Parts: sequence; C-alpha cells; structure tokens
Amino acid sequence: MKHIPVLLKESITALKIKRTGIYVDGTFGAGGHSLEILKNIGKSGKLYAIDQDLSAVKLGKKIYDPRFFIKHGSFSERIKDIYIKHCNNKINGILLDLGVSSIQLNTANRGFSFMKDGLLDMRMNTSTGIPAWLWLKKSNQKKIEFVLKNFGEEKYAKKISFSIIERNKQKTITRTLDLVDIINKSIPRKYQHKHPATRTFQAIRIYINNEIQELKKILKISIKILANKSRLVIICFHSIENRIVKNFFKKYSQYPFFPKGFPITHKKMQKYKNKKIKIIKKIKPNQIEVKKNPRSRSAILRIAEIL
Ligand SMILES: C[S@@+](CC[C@H](N)C(=O)[O-])C[C@H]1O[C@@H](n2cnc3c(N)ncnc32)[C@H](O)[C@@H]1O
Repeated sequence: MKHIPVLLKESITALKIKRTGIYVDGTFGAGGHSLEILKNIGKSGKLYAIDQDLSAVKLGKKIYDPRFFIKHGSFSERIKDIYIKHCNNKINGILLDLGVSSIQLNTANRGFSFMKDGLLDMRMNTSTGIPAWLWLKKSNQKKIEFVLKNFGEEKYAKKISFSIIERNKQKTITRTLDLVDIINKSIPRKYQHKHPATRTFQAIRIYINNEIQELKKILKISIKILANKSRLVIICFHSIENRIVKNFFKKYSQYPFFPKGFPITHKKMQKYKNKKIKIIKKIKPNQIEVKKNPRSRSAILRIAEIL
C-alpha cells in the first residue's frame, strides 16, 4: 500500500508559502508533502527535507530538482546544520508530519506493525541505537512497565511487562507476532476493543526512536530559527505528542501570569515576556479523508505563526 499524505491541502495552505521562501520538511517519508511544497515555491525558493530513515532518503534522492535537498538524520539535529550552513538565517516555514509512514508500517521486517510477522526492530534510523527486541531483552520489568505506561498509556503495563520478562527467560522474543501473542494473553478479552497490541507497539516505538525528546527539541529550536511571520505546521497522531505541541503553543503564545498587585512595572514585564508565537488554528481530517485514508483518523494539524 502506498503512503497517502495526511491533511495535504490543509498543511500546505497553513505554510502560507512564499515563492522565494526557504522551507523545511522535517519528516520527508514518501515525499507527499515535499512534492506539494515544491509545486508552490518559485524558481528561487528552496526546500530542505530531512528523514532519519535511510530508505526514505534514498527515495528523496530520486527527486531531481535544483531547489530540493535531502538530509539523513534526526530533524532536531539536521535542522541546525541546514539553518547555519544553507539558510542565511532565514527559514520561512517548517512542516512536521510525525510518526511512521505507510512504507515503514507495511515493511514487515522493520517491526512497526503488529499485523505482520517480522523482526522486532522498530528503529526509524537503523544505523544507530538498538532494536526493540534487544531493548526488551536488556531491560528490567520496571523499565518496560514505565515505558508502556508513559508512552502508550497502557492500563495493563504491569502484566504485559512481567509476561515479557518471563517469555524472554525461556526464549528471546525477536518477532513482532511473538510480542502480540504475549500481549493478547495479558489483556482480558473484554478490554480488547482496539487491537490489544496498539498501545504497547506505540509505546516501544516512541521510546526506541526517542520521539518525545525529538519533538520537544525541535519545538524549541523552531521558534528560535524561524523568520518573523513564518509558520510552524505540525501533524500529530497520538495524544502524547498532541499534548506536547498544544502546551508548547499555549506557553509561547501568552504573557507569563503575574498575580494582581504584583510589584512589577509594564516595562520590566516586557523583559519576561515569552509571547513568541500566535496560534492560528487546529484542523482535523474530514470524514471523506478518513474514509479514503483510515491512517488519518487520529491526525490533528496544529498551526502557529512566529511573531
Ligand atoms: C508520517 S511519515 C511522513 C510522510 C510524509 N509527510 C509524506 O507525505 O510522504 C513520517 C516520517 O518522518 C520520519 N521521522 C519521524 N521522526 C523523525 C525525526 N525525529 N527525525 C527525522 N525523521 C523522522 C519517519 O522516518 C517517517 O519517514
């Protein structure tokens, strides 16, 4: 199945693209959003794309366009080089379409899918870090429980983590479907509404790819490097990343709170001001998009403008 870009029209409109602007697509994936940005910039515009997945970068290298550049690595790292080396202190918009692509999900041996048998790897960047199966083997029960609870909001985190430890003592869990089997046996049938492995797979993937830290870092960097009036456009797919973006936007779109009568002058208050962005809006996919592309059902697009 090919990757269908989520909220494509809405995210491109949200970027308010200038023909001469310099843009960053931090999550190239299958290039759906990048190709649309390229259609909207003029001859002197530029697009820098990033992906930490080597196969996505290989795909990007097939785009022969003098205005397009693709870099391998994490967006929080690569964006700094792009800004310093190539952008002359001017980036006009950043787009992030978080999570995994359909290509990654559908390639069984990448280990992202609980529907297909494959090696339990789950790394987006296979040139660094450790695969999920090895992390499960090396970790203690408490650590696994913590990850499942915090990154998957899994109610049965304790039970699943104990079962993982027990199974690993008998035989190393290396396959996705072995993990699915353990999860199935740990969650009572009556609580199995969604696929029971959804939360555990999400949690391990977030942990293995350091997704929360990556997101927090890029948010902080973005407001420093984006030009005035430029846009930060982020598509989130689960409640944890959605909450992080929402709270960040809220924090930097308000003045700090000083209680009534607090002894501070207006001039001094300006020094503490942390109002750096204006929240534009959030958009969810409509029913037609969700029907056409079920992967989009949990997506939320959040848009902010740099002041
Ligand atoms: C949902 S897909 C993007 C799809 C893309 N917008 C399209 O329309 O084809 C997310 C992509 O971002 C990459 N990715 C996720 N987190 C990343 C990070 N911190 N740094 C770099 N790439 C990342 C993944 O490897 C994946 O290819």
